[in-house]
Amino acid sequence: MSFDFKKEPFDNFLNLYKAAIKKGVPEANAFSISTVDQNQQTSIRIVYFKNTIDNQIVFYTNYNGKKGQDIAYCNKVCANFYWPHLNQQVRIYGEAVKVTREQSEKYFSTRPRASQIGAWTSQQSQTLSSFEDFNKLYENFEKKFHGQQVPCPPNWGGYLIKPSEYEFWFGKAGRLHERYIYTSEGSSWVRSLKFP
Ligand SMILES: Cc1cc2nc3c(=O)[nH]c(=O)nc-3n(C[C@H](O)[C@H](O)[C@H](O)COP(=O)(O)O)c2cc1C
Repeated sequence: MSFDFKKEPFDNFLNLYKAAIKKGVPEANAFSISTVDQNQQTSIRIVYFKNTIDNQIVFYTNYNGKKGQDIAYCNKVCANFYWPHLNQQVRIYGEAVKVTREQSEKYFSTRPRASQIGAWTSQQSQTLSSFEDFNKLYENFEKKFHGQQVPCPPNWGGYLIKPSEYEFWFGKAGRLHERYIYTSEGSSWVRSLKFP
């Protein structure tokens, strides 16, 4: 097991993530992230863990979409990774904070061109009249950016998750699962256990 109690929880997270990739877990960087809206209605969806900044996980999205609007209202989020081939999950509670514009632009420049144009085309989470309209919009942006680099849309970028708690869950036979909790206290982490 790639877990070392002497290490910081973020390092343990990264080691487990790397082990999941090595093990061939499909979509090992996909995780669910929950948000809450102004009606206290929670929602959840999958996003991709793309990179880290200052020991925090980062995902990218449309800031005007549903999750972006929720985060603008309440930036407390909960992320959950599940790696079935390892029978492990990691839950991270924290606050979503926008990365800097430079960091978003840097990552955006590495995306395939089609995804870059897609980011301009998609008014994420808004009602779409038809796929034909969507394709037309896409073609318009293709024409607009023909022969030039596609810039990062102003409403597109990353969030990092500033963690306040980690839970590492290791599935064991007989449902005797092991749960290790790391709670942030000031500048250090306090470790505890939970019944499965
Ligand atoms: C495997 C997978 C990875 C995804 N990765 C992202 C992502 O990194 N960013 C994103 O905005 N949406 C991603 N999506 C789409 C989201 O799940 C979701 O449909 C979209 O972000 C709109 O969510 P919202 O309306 O709650 O904001 C992904 C979906 C799947 C199935």
